Amino acid sequence: MSSEWIGQLRSIEQQFDRERESAADLRSLEEVKNRFLSRKSGLLTLQLQNVRNVPAAERAEFGRIANEIKGRIETALEALQQKFSDADATAALERERLDVTLPGNRRRIGHIHPLTLARQEIEDIFISMGYTVEDGPEVEKTYYNFEALNIPASHPARDPKDTFYVSDDVVLRTHTSPVQVRTMEKMQPPVRIICPGRVYRRDAADATHTPMFHQFECLLVDEGITFSDLKGTLERFHKLYFGEKTETRLRPSFFPFTEPSAEVDVSCVFCGRKGCRVCKHSGWIEVMGSGLVNPRLFEFVKYDASRYTGFAFGGGIERYHALKYGINDIQLYYQNDMRFLEQF
Ligand code: DAH
Repeated sequence: MSSEWIGQLRSIEQQFDRERESAADLRSLEEVKNRFLSRKSGLLTLQLQNVRNVPAAERAEFGRIANEIKGRIETALEALQQKFSDADATAALERERLDVTLPGNRRRIGHIHPLTLARQEIEDIFISMGYTVEDGPEVEKTYYNFEALNIPASHPARDPKDTFYVSDDVVLRTHTSPVQVRTMEKMQPPVRIICPGRVYRRDAADATHTPMFHQFECLLVDEGITFSDLKGTLERFHKLYFGEKTETRLRPSFFPFTEPSAEVDVSCVFCGRKGCRVCKHSGWIEVMGSGLVNPRLFEFVKYDASRYTGFAFGGGIERYHALKYGINDIQLYYQNDMRFLEQF
């Protein structure tokens, strides 16, 4: 049987078949569903409400076909819904896929900087010989950095070309030697200290210079201290730091705060005195300045110079570390290149 009424049902069915083809995802499917089945305005819903107007003879048939079409539409919608939500889940899985066979991200663990290691190693050696570790300010009065170390106003080290001045009488310390004076001001002999720390000089950065670097200072004052105590201490220190074969040599020199003064050399750690490029074929490498404490310093700190004598020395921590490990560019200490730092 075919009537106008049933024809309308069939054309709704055909329209649904066309539209469901165009649904591409859950959202557009929902729109299709609403268009046909929504309770107020769905095309099929409205058609079903028309059942009252259908001639009595056709009503049963109309009802049966309408319900059949409704059933088909619902089944088709459900199947599509299932298909789209499956596709969504698969896409989500694909998006979040983890390859558990990939190597993990290695967590980098913190590491002590080589210059800190060198400082600690130097400290440990002196602590084992009975010294204590002192500290002093990096922003220092010219009095401690120069005057009380017997460095006269005319001395070239005071030149603002070489020294960072904070004000007329305050500088960034150019060496750790001011800690000698500060220490003697606050304690009476016997004094046995070392002081590692940062120092500042207006040098352009190159393989052997940085405007900030590290030194360690040593000061010993007691009764009866002689030059041989200085030499013995330096020899012991160098053997402990560089190895038992290391020899130490002193050469006459001048520093305002020591008298007599000596430049300190170690036997070349690379060639063992045979002569190589590093020691410029001399077999020796200069590492420090040293001397017996100039009695003029004792006047500043009111020590009895007729009773006490002492020795002092100071060297660069970068230099000691670089020599021990054969590093030819001190910029490496400041570039934070993990490939360099990780080796220590
Ligand atoms: N302060 C000197 C410098 O920075 C090094 C030095 C020389 C320190 C002789 C000393 C010393 O204690 O006795 O060049």
